[in-house]
Amino acid sequence: MTSARQNLIRILQNAHAGECAAAYAYRGHWRSLKDSPEKDRIKEIEAEEWDHRRRVGEWLLKLGAKPKLIREKIFWTIGNLLGPSCFLSGWFMPMYFAGRLESQNSVEYEEAAKCASELGMHDCVADLIDMARIEEEHETFFHQIVIGHRLLPVMKRVFGWS
Ligand SMILES: [Fe+2]
Ligand SMILES: [Fe+2]
Repeated sequence: MTSARQNLIRILQNAHAGECAAAYAYRGHWRSLKDSPEKDRIKEIEAEEWDHRRRVGEWLLKLGAKPKLIREKIFWTIGNLLGPSCFLSGWFMPMYFAGRLESQNSVEYEEAAKCASELGMHDCVADLIDMARIEEEHETFFHQIVIGHRLLPVMKRVFGWS
């Protein structure tokens, strides 16, 4: 059976790499958009993902763990492929998949917070819950953008996202 500590480290390692992919993907995303409030918000979201990565890295360090190098490389590549693809994939797809992924991010930080709570790491719990809340804000932002779009019902049927 894996311990809460092992679980927490695993989730944080995944998040550390995932935040890098997200940040680069958002960088490409906002750069592909015309000047607009949406563009400004996605720029801000990129900065928030870098901030999450920094905070997650600090918790890994406190747990005596490190990011997983191979995963970091894979997710760096994913982010740097997704970012530029936003120039080609049209307006809807990056917005939809961003929202879809954000809904998973908040769940992962909540899972991590449960593990930290089992370990009695109260500051860590508070920080993880704060990050889960920010991921929920990101999800809400993208959801509000795509709501009512003609492609949304079919995408939800295929890829999910309530
Ligand atoms: Fe994040
Ligand atoms: Fe996010």
